[in-house]
Amino acid sequence: MAGSEETFQLTLEAVEAYESKFVPALFGEWAPHLADAAGVAPGHSVLDVACGTGVVAREVANRLGGDGRVVGVDVNEAMLTVARRLGPDIEWRAGDAATLPFADGSFDVVLCQAALMFFRDRAAALREMARVATAGGTVVFHVWASLDDQLAYRRLVDVAARHAGPDAVSLLSSYWVLGDLDELRLLCMEAGLEITEARTRVGTARFASIDELVRIEVEGTPLIERIDADVFRKILDDAGVALSEYRTDQGSAEVPIVGHIVTTRA
Ligand SMILES: C[S@@+](CC[C@H](N)C(=O)[O-])C[C@H]1O[C@@H](n2cnc3c(N)ncnc32)[C@H](O)[C@@H]1O
Repeated sequence: MAGSEETFQLTLEAVEAYESKFVPALFGEWAPHLADAAGVAPGHSVLDVACGTGVVAREVANRLGGDGRVVGVDVNEAMLTVARRLGPDIEWRAGDAATLPFADGSFDVVLCQAALMFFRDRAAALREMARVATAGGTVVFHVWASLDDQLAYRRLVDVAARHAGPDAVSLLSSYWVLGDLDELRLLCMEAGLEITEARTRVGTARFASIDELVRIEVEGTPLIERIDADVFRKILDDAGVALSEYRTDQGSAEVPIVGHIVTTRA
């Protein structure tokens, strides 16, 4: 799920795993913060771009309480299949963020969580979010902060680089590539979006164990194709030590993960 190019169609099985594992582990806790930042309230029409299985759209639907409109759009059919099952009353649309299938000024609020870094054309996607928002409407997006700000993940990447070579850093880093706030400011400016607030917060990523965290990070990236079983074992062993302070008494892992929530006016 952390691959740098996610526009390929995922299998339903991968998406079910995304919903049951990754949403509770990583993404779920951010959705209320996006809705707060955007001031989502009854009566609003809201678009969730790259909605995945719809965790943000469902949060919005709860807040609208039937008064308003919420639409989730994603390029992956399997994501939408699960989203439809979990949110049958929400509108779900297939579409690419770079060519959103909506008329100008269709939404009071446009949200995009944990996805901008995976888009082939980020500038076009932000321009599209600005276009489909009403004049003066709100566009809020969430991205993970840079690797330098990720205390736990940086340790994992350091361990991987020690055993798999310096290439491991970029191979493991697709999550972190949009963490620079100056770069985000420039991207927003070019898309005609005025930043009104940029909030940085620390969340918690939760996994069954440190081993599971490492496996998910390595197996979900191109690094897995570059290493043999022996190197993978060494990464698992050393990461177990480097990340030991994040092991809970029950043996699960709780690691800090820093994200930016950027609020803009269209
Ligand atoms: C890490 S998931 C985040 C999903 C959701 N926002 C969440 O918080 O759970 C990234 C999502 O971006 C979608 N995606 C990637 N490229 C896209 C594009 N060009 N247009 C629309 N969706 C895209 C993927 O299908 C995937 O659902």
